[in-house]
Amino acid sequence: MPTILITGANKGLGLGFAKRYAADGWRVLAACRRPDAATDLNALAQTHDVQVHALDVTDHATIDALADTLKAKPVDLLLNNAAVQGGHPQKFRHTDYAAWDLAFRTNVMGVMKMCEAFAPHVERGAKKLIVNVSSRTSSIANKTTADPDNTKGELHQYRSTKTALNMVSRCMAWELQPRGIAVVLLGPGWVRTDLGGPNARLSVDEAIAACVPTINSFTLADTGQFRGHDGTVVPW
Ligand SMILES: NC(=O)c1ccc[n+]([C@@H]2O[C@H](COP(=O)([O-])OP(=O)(O)OC[C@H]3O[C@@H](n4cnc5c(N)ncnc54)[C@H](OP(=O)(O)O)[C@@H]3O)[C@@H](O)[C@H]2O)c1
Repeated sequence: MPTILITGANKGLGLGFAKRYAADGWRVLAACRRPDAATDLNALAQTHDVQVHALDVTDHATIDALADTLKAKPVDLLLNNAAVQGGHPQKFRHTDYAAWDLAFRTNVMGVMKMCEAFAPHVERGAKKLIVNVSSRTSSIANKTTADPDNTKGELHQYRSTKTALNMVSRCMAWELQPRGIAVVLLGPGWVRTDLGGPNARLSVDEAIAACVPTINSFTLADTGQFRGHDGTVVPW
């Protein structure tokens, strides 16, 4: 039975991934900040092979402690899903620097730290795959005035964290390739979650139905790439 470790597994896409991989017969290591408040996740753990772990991706000591707790367990797929949007409204002269700082610590450094701490577990897994959830809004090439995703201000803070995540992941991809570990970026689509908002195009179920086959198709040959939920290459 393959094992997946998911961050931010208590709601939104993270919960959707946890439900889908659990239903598909995977062992799910579901990490979230507040297991005591993760009602849906705890309910899932009653019926499936789901273990709920407390984890704040900005707390490096806790990441190291969880990596130590799980040191005997191989992880086939590390899914770095947790993120924050980084403040509101994200327009010029309305920058919330404290929220932006937290977004970098969550969306970029949190992912890097997770990869550093869990690379040995992934190396022991059969699939040897790390998927970092990015966003198509991170694409500099796509950032034009006709950008259809540009509906809520310019999103400087959020976009820039994901653009940084793209570069960090691409660097990591080359560093981990000799160990047989693939690192792939995924844009999950615009999805109706707390982060995506109510006007997004896809439901969580629709996004998960597209993302999971795409993720499952990734191999070492895909390392360093940035793919959309439908598997298409996203331009940098
Ligand atoms: N929804 C979209 O349209 C969309 C589009 C492109 C990319 N994405 C990406 O998809 C991923 C999932 O987003 P979502 O839409 O499902 O958002 P969401 O519903 O807001 O969920 C975000 C998750 O991240 C967790 N999280 C935030 N900060 C954390 C921290 N410091 N430590 C651990 N967990 C933390 C949240 O936990 P709490 O409940 O404790 O806050 C929550 O579980 C993110 O990487 C996001 O950038 C989403």
